[in-house]
Amino acid sequence: MNKKIVILPGDGIGKEVTTEGKSVLIKIAEIFGHEFEFDEAIIGHDAIEATGNPLPDETLTKLKNCDAILFGAVGHPKYDNDPTLKVRPEQGLLKMRKELGLYANLRPIKLFDELLEASSIKPEILKGSDILFFRELTGDVYFGEKGRRDDGNTAYDLMIYQRYEVERIAHKAFQAARTRNKKVTSVDKANVLESSRLWRETVQEVGKQYPDVQLEHLFVDSAAMKLIQNPRSFDVVVTGNLFGDILTDEASQIAGSMGMLASASVGDKVGLYEPIHGSAHDITGKGIANPLASILSAALLLDISFGMKQESELVIKAVEETLKQGYRTTDIADAKTTREKILNTQNMGAQVVSQLAKIASQLSVSANN
Ligand code: IPM
Ligand code: MN
Repeated sequence: MNKKIVILPGDGIGKEVTTEGKSVLIKIAEIFGHEFEFDEAIIGHDAIEATGNPLPDETLTKLKNCDAILFGAVGHPKYDNDPTLKVRPEQGLLKMRKELGLYANLRPIKLFDELLEASSIKPEILKGSDILFFRELTGDVYFGEKGRRDDGNTAYDLMIYQRYEVERIAHKAFQAARTRNKKVTSVDKANVLESSRLWRETVQEVGKQYPDVQLEHLFVDSAAMKLIQNPRSFDVVVTGNLFGDILTDEASQIAGSMGMLASASVGDKVGLYEPIHGSAHDITGKGIANPLASILSAALLLDISFGMKQESELVIKAVEETLKQGYRTTDIADAKTTREKILNTQNMGAQVVSQLAKIASQLSVSANN
C-alpha cells in the first residue's frame, strides 16, 4: 500500500519520540512491503520562532494533503510562565484540530501486564483494566467565546456544546462499545451545567439506537474518584473536551505512566496520532523520554487510518515483548527490582524495531501474506 505520512515533531521531547515512532513505521513498511512516503512540518513554539505563526499555512496545506499525521507535542515553559503572551504554541494544536475537523480523540488506557508494578495504584485494583476514552476535541470551553471585560479584572471562557457535536461523538463511542464490553459511561456535570444537560439528553437519545449497549452517566467529580477506585468498572467513556483532558491524564496512571499512552484524533478526513504526554521541557534533550507512547500512536495510525490490523498488532506485540525482556525507560522503571534494563529514548526505539523484525521472521510475515 502507498501512503503519505506527515511527521509533525513539534516542541520539547516531541522530536525525540516521533523519531522513534517514525523508525517503527519504516520497519513495518519494510516487513510488509508497503510504500510509506514521509514529509515533515513545523508547529508550536518552533513555528512561532521561524514564522511568527504556531500553525503556518504551509504546514496546514501539507496536513490537508496526506493520509495520516504522526504528531509529537507542543508547548514551551516560556509561555507557561508568562500568561500575557498573545501568540502561544498551543494555539497551533487547537487550530489544527479545528481545521482538520478532528472532533473525536480516542485515548485507550490499557495496562501492559509487565507494568503492573510501575503504577502508583495497587496492582490488584489495576489488573485487567481496559478503558477507551472518547474525548470530544473541537468544542467546549476550548473553543467557546473567551475574553476579558473592560475593567481587566474579569475573564470568561464560554462552555458551549451544540447537539450535533454531542451526537457524532456519542455515536462513535457506542459503535466502539459494540466491539468491546458493550458499556458506555458518559461523563458530565449535569447537576450544575446547562451544556452538560444538553450533553446528557443527547447521549440518552443516541443511546436508544444502541439498546444492546449499557449506558451509565456519571458526574465528572464522581468519575474522577471511581477511575482510581475501580478502573475495571469502565469500558468506553465519552466526555467533553475539558473533562476529557483532565480525566485522561488521571487515567494515565492506570497505564503506569503518561509515557505509555497513545491517542488518535479522527473526524472528517485525515487522522492525527499523538502521545497524550506533552512537550516535557524538563527532560528535553536528555534522551530519557519514553518513546513508547509515540510508537503506540504509530500502531493506532496503522490500524485506524490505514486499516492495517496485522501491522498494528505486530507493533503492539513488539512493545509487549520489549517490556517482557525487562527493557524500561526511567519513567516506567520499578525501583523495587534490579532486573530491569534501563534504556534511553533511542535505544528503546531500536529495541522495539529489532523485536518487530524478530517476531515478523518467526511468524514469517512477508509481503505475500
Ligand atoms: C492534550 C494537551 C492539550 C489539550 C494542550 C497542549 C493544549 O493537554 O492534548 O491533552 O489541552 O488538549
Ligand atoms: Mn492534556
